[in-house]
Amino acid sequence: MQFNNESKNNIMEEFNKAADSDEVRDIMQGFLSMQHLYNAGIKEVKTKLEILDGEFSVKYDRNPIHHIEHRLKKPGSIIEKLKRKGLDVSVESIRNNLFDIAGIRVICSYIDDIYRIADFLASQDDIEIIRVRDYIKNPKPSGYRSLHLVVKIPVFLFGGKEYVYVEVQIRTIAMDFWASLEHQLKYKSGVKDSPAILEQLRECSCEINNIDVKMQNIHKELFNDENS
Ligand code: GTP
Ligand code: MG
Repeated sequence: MQFNNESKNNIMEEFNKAADSDEVRDIMQGFLSMQHLYNAGIKEVKTKLEILDGEFSVKYDRNPIHHIEHRLKKPGSIIEKLKRKGLDVSVESIRNNLFDIAGIRVICSYIDDIYRIADFLASQDDIEIIRVRDYIKNPKPSGYRSLHLVVKIPVFLFGGKEYVYVEVQIRTIAMDFWASLEHQLKYKSGVKDSPAILEQLRECSCEINNIDVKMQNIHKELFNDENS
């Protein structure tokens, strides 16, 4: 196992050298503390999900979670979003206004698993569900399907308890396949202006959804226990 104290010290040393005023130093320090906080939020939610997946594996011999991805929004994207929304560019403004600094994507096997995972998160004492956007029941005009939750979770620091928002996107392997390819394709020149291509992408999303429903039904037929 590699310890990373050295690299952490280097970061502090580097930015102390580069920061040519107390103000810049304060901003940088605030930003690093914020990143630490959101990273902690990601770890806490991820651990809860891993525990659920492990319990399922022990009880029902299967994993509802195929895999989990996570990311912290990049500083450039944070500033771009604040400006686009006409908001202050400050750590306080980020903490109060942006819900997607910390992002977790949970890729599941079946559609039912998505709602099971959402219910599980909602049932945790220390988690508050702030926002639910169900793009499975109401897909986006693009054809995008996923369940998006914003959860509020406490992080315990030296100075006391702090709350952070974490955006959790939950989708099946099939929905993820569509979203990944559509995301790549829509940045190709001309795609956004081509009604024919956009229509084809929507059709693919419908076909993929039919397969998801079929797979879910096969699974239900084979395993009668409602939890499995
Ligand atoms: P943002 O300002 O983009 O974060 O939008 P929002 O805060 O209104 O959130 P929304 O519920 O629209 O979801 C945003 C996230 O969902 C994006 O960052 C993508 O990861 C994903 N997403 C939303 N719509 C689409 C879509 O049409 N295609 C793909 N591939 N992903 C999408
Ligand atoms: Mg977003």
